[in-house]
Amino acid sequence: MQIFRIQGGSSLNGEVKIDSAKNSALPILAASVMTEDPVTLLDVPDIEDVSNMIAILRGMGVSVTREGSAVTVRAKGDLSGELPPRLEKTLRASVFMVGPMLSRTRAFTFGYPGGCEIGLRPIDLHERGLRALGVVIDESGGRLRCDGRSMRGAEIHFDYPSVGATENIMMAAALLPGKTVIHNAAREPEIADLARFMNACGAKVSGAGRQTVTIQGVRKLRGVVFRPIADRIAAGTMLASAAITGGDLRVLNAPTCDMVAQTSKLRGMGCEITEGPNELRLKAPKRLKSFGQIQTQPHPGFPTDMQAPMFTLATVADGVSLLVETVFESRFQHARDLQAMGADVTIMDRVAVVRGVPKLHGARVKAHDLRSGAALAIAALAAEGETEIEQVSQIDRGYAALEVTLRGLGAKITREERG
Ligand code: UD1
Repeated sequence: MQIFRIQGGSSLNGEVKIDSAKNSALPILAASVMTEDPVTLLDVPDIEDVSNMIAILRGMGVSVTREGSAVTVRAKGDLSGELPPRLEKTLRASVFMVGPMLSRTRAFTFGYPGGCEIGLRPIDLHERGLRALGVVIDESGGRLRCDGRSMRGAEIHFDYPSVGATENIMMAAALLPGKTVIHNAAREPEIADLARFMNACGAKVSGAGRQTVTIQGVRKLRGVVFRPIADRIAAGTMLASAAITGGDLRVLNAPTCDMVAQTSKLRGMGCEITEGPNELRLKAPKRLKSFGQIQTQPHPGFPTDMQAPMFTLATVADGVSLLVETVFESRFQHARDLQAMGADVTIMDRVAVVRGVPKLHGARVKAHDLRSGAALAIAALAAEGETEIEQVSQIDRGYAALEVTLRGLGAKITREERG
């Protein structure tokens, strides 16, 4: 088991460059199997979720090579018609293979995906969307056998704008006869990015990023070299780290337009943020002020993935802050560990009331999920004394060697092996 050991108290300064977004790269890696041509993705982060997705692709017979930050996918010939059972639980995004594989071969078998334990995370919306496209799903022994021989374009209305279900259905519809219209689609920037990728391959997707997405099926897709958008959550995590440590940080390759919900809260906390083209610079105040209230919502609301890092800022901000988590059921897992570090927190179901204290102190804590882990690392940077974070594998799912990035900005953090 690996741990992070962090000595708090150093401010974060300098500049950091952001990679492509995990949540864009993962569906696009899956979508790459819809063409037999090579697809090359640029600036792909070296994170566990990407490695696990690559392992799944390879497990299905797809050739994947990585040279530096470029990943090339070649899905030539016959591919396995089943998601490898031993790999599908490694990440939630394994479910992204279903849409593209059904579009390509009209038959696919998979099991329920794994991923961060942040709520129930059912896949009923994915299943309902697939059924609307004509897929017959037979479930037995925990495996879902999909027969897509009757697949064709259809009208689909989602009861909730699920990011994953919107993406899965967009991909499933790409190579079908007829037109598919998704109503109440999710509007996250990564959805528009998936459409940009698919259209670069020859697909006909319009409206992505808005509530109604239309996919006109085409016969064939071609290969492309593509750079997914930058990671707004990784960029936000860096801003939060600078904000809590009294730092002055330039975040390069930041998707500034997609980060307004975050930057407006940080400004409200007293941070000075200046924007350049694809760049943000944050200068932190002496002490952060409370942001008042954050309610997570589907895009363009406040992103649930930034709730945990903002929770940490609230623990030391002057005043009382309220966080309302509306997207996932169990996304306050960092609260208990932050309390162990001296935070004053009351949780009532999906509402957290955080009363800012002047300082946190070091403790031995555990990363329960990806963003909770990031929240604890941010807390440790500002805490008095030393913090040990266990289970850093959770953090590695979404941040590439976070300790190296933070050290480069002045943090005292090491990764250690614990027996
Ligand atoms: C994606 C992101 C994740 C982010 C989330 C919300 C990826 C790889 N992950 O996850 O980082 O936190 O969007 O912005 O892109 N739901 C159902 N039935 C379904 C699908 C979802 O009830 O079939 C529920 C979920 O349990 C959750 C809510 O809808 O409560 C939102 O989930 P969804 O938008 O699907 O998130 P993911 O695609 O899993």
